[in-house]
Amino acid sequence: MPQIPRDERKTVDADVGIIGAGPAGLMLAHLLRRSGLRVVAIDHRGAEEIHRTHRAGILEHESVRMLAEPDLGSRVLTDGHLHDGIDLRFGRRSHRIDFQELVGESVWLYPQNEVFWDLARAAEHHRMDVRYGVADASAFDVATDHPGIRFTDSDGSAREIRCRYVVGADGSKSATRGLIPREIRRDYFAEYPFAWFGILAETPPSAPELIYAQSPRGFALISQRSDTVQRLYFQCDPATDPADWSQDQIWEELQARIDGPDGMTLRRGPIIESTVLKFRSFVCDPMRYHRLYLAGDAAHTVPPTGAKGLNLALADVRVLAPALIRAVRDGDETLLGEYSETALSRVWKAQNFSYWMTTMLHTAPGETEFATARRLGELRAVTESPHGRAYLAEQYTGWPFHPTVS
Ligand code: DHB
Repeated sequence: MPQIPRDERKTVDADVGIIGAGPAGLMLAHLLRRSGLRVVAIDHRGAEEIHRTHRAGILEHESVRMLAEPDLGSRVLTDGHLHDGIDLRFGRRSHRIDFQELVGESVWLYPQNEVFWDLARAAEHHRMDVRYGVADASAFDVATDHPGIRFTDSDGSAREIRCRYVVGADGSKSATRGLIPREIRRDYFAEYPFAWFGILAETPPSAPELIYAQSPRGFALISQRSDTVQRLYFQCDPATDPADWSQDQIWEELQARIDGPDGMTLRRGPIIESTVLKFRSFVCDPMRYHRLYLAGDAAHTVPPTGAKGLNLALADVRVLAPALIRAVRDGDETLLGEYSETALSRVWKAQNFSYWMTTMLHTAPGETEFATARRLGELRAVTESPHGRAYLAEQYTGWPFHPTVS
């Protein structure tokens, strides 16, 4: 990516300094830019490194609306794929959840690394101050009216951002989160005894929609990327080393988890990437401390089932941006004061959904026969009832934004 000419002064003044220039930080920067705020965003990773990071691929309709704005390139509308439903497969057969019929909404398959790329390219186009490959970033004086961020620029020079507000969008290993004192911060955790073995494979899609499969061998998710590359996952032990699995073994395992009398067959092809994804639920409450605000994974992570992570990050900044704009323009912090509570109300709904989908579809190690049979009962209760299907559809496609958010 070409470098933008930048201010060479040691200290840069901004309204908002953002630590973390992944999707959450960049989307926030764009929303603030549109209202004329001065923003600087920094990230310790390089832009190519973030672009190479594979994450989930499903966008809620409200996330798509945010990305479809012409000043962000609106590539999601041309390169994304509309999905009107999913297949819940259990008891060796498929059960379709028809989102359009049930709740009149759809989702889009558009991978997170493409979301990042669009936002980064648009930032370049609008000549925004976004700096990758910085080191030693740390926020200071966040409990005063004059906070700032110190960091070492990619060329090795020490820099400082003097701003009115600092945003920590620095991911699940967030250092800014640690600035919220322990006495006022509550961290909520849940661990899960399984992980996902995720692959990217060069092959056409095996089915028109995503398949979430429950089987006696554990969960599998048959997702997609494009006409020629697919993303698939299967539940595994968190200690699994992808190097221990041959390509044939991986395909056999995936196929075994979707087998059924309808003869559903995966289209196989060369596996070009394998990774093991760990599961964790985490929430930090509150998501603010004086002039510091957290957004995205810095404040919360969800297990991947249901693909809520990126959608939640975008929902955070959708609430945070108007609150920051009002504070900077009018000196009115009322909306900022409500940010944490508003964002957390959605976060906990998404935590519940991700936990529910995860526990309903995965087999816990050493699970009792009762527990397995009960999960199948739950899956039938959901899929055999229009209300159950609508409940799943409503949550999967995403809740409307909070009424105070335009
Ligand atoms: C994908 C990941 C998910 O966790 C999910 O629920 C759906 C799709 C994906 O990577 O494509």
